[in-house]
Amino acid sequence: MLPDSLIFGSAKIKLDAIGSTNDFARDLLTKGDEILEGTVVIAENQQTGRGQRGNSWVSEAGMNLTFSVVLFPKFLSPSDQFELSKAISLGIINYLRDVLPVNMTGVRIKWPNDIYVGNEKICGILIENAISGSKILHAVVGIGLNVNQDHFEKSLANPTSMKLVSGEHFELEHQLSCLLGYLDRSYVELRNRGSQKLNNNYVKNLYRYKELAQFKIGNQPIQATIIGVDGSGKLILEKENKEQMHADFQEVKFVNFANDNKA
Ligand code: BTN
Repeated sequence: MLPDSLIFGSAKIKLDAIGSTNDFARDLLTKGDEILEGTVVIAENQQTGRGQRGNSWVSEAGMNLTFSVVLFPKFLSPSDQFELSKAISLGIINYLRDVLPVNMTGVRIKWPNDIYVGNEKICGILIENAISGSKILHAVVGIGLNVNQDHFEKSLANPTSMKLVSGEHFELEHQLSCLLGYLDRSYVELRNRGSQKLNNNYVKNLYRYKELAQFKIGNQPIQATIIGVDGSGKLILEKENKEQMHADFQEVKFVNFANDNKA
């Protein structure tokens, strides 16, 4: 068992219905309200959830976890902001590996921060940082985890949920507090021990790490192997001719999963 959550979940704001928990948290911060680090904003029914690349995040009311956590990662410089994304992704995969009946390799991080079980997306993360000069003023970490939903819109490419993976129904409140414990541990590890160990762990848990696979760079299909992530969070791909390239989120797509960031 993990110790009680220290930072994550220091306060909880529960909402019945809201557009986006990330927006709600950001509005509290910009209004200048006093907010504890680790405050969680959670919605039973998130009606206009936002995803990466301007996509929406659709989640059936009362079935899943849709929440945001406010952090003040003063120990990170803006150039290291991707470290937070790594810590959050690792916290989530550690939680899922403990709670789901899958082996270690079944749960992976699809770069940069989608969480997959097998070839299906179970969780999405949207981290929004407010930066001023050389400081991260605050981070809003938005997490959408598919828990009990077992039917998804057809337009979503490859969604799954904890229920679809395990056949079980999960009590949301309990799962939230477990997950917060894992996130807390991962965040505190980043804060106390720095990023080297975290980076090794992140890279070796990447979906398709060290496998020859199909990608698209812009519209150009390539075969390449993921060999790591650079200091700014770009994906390092090695082509068959051993040439390496560093690709950012806008330019690289995993082939067959062009639509999966919506799930
Ligand atoms: C993605 O994979 O595209 C990221 C999805 C992030 C969804 C979560 S749900 C809680 C929080 N509030 C939002 O509006 N988005 C994030």
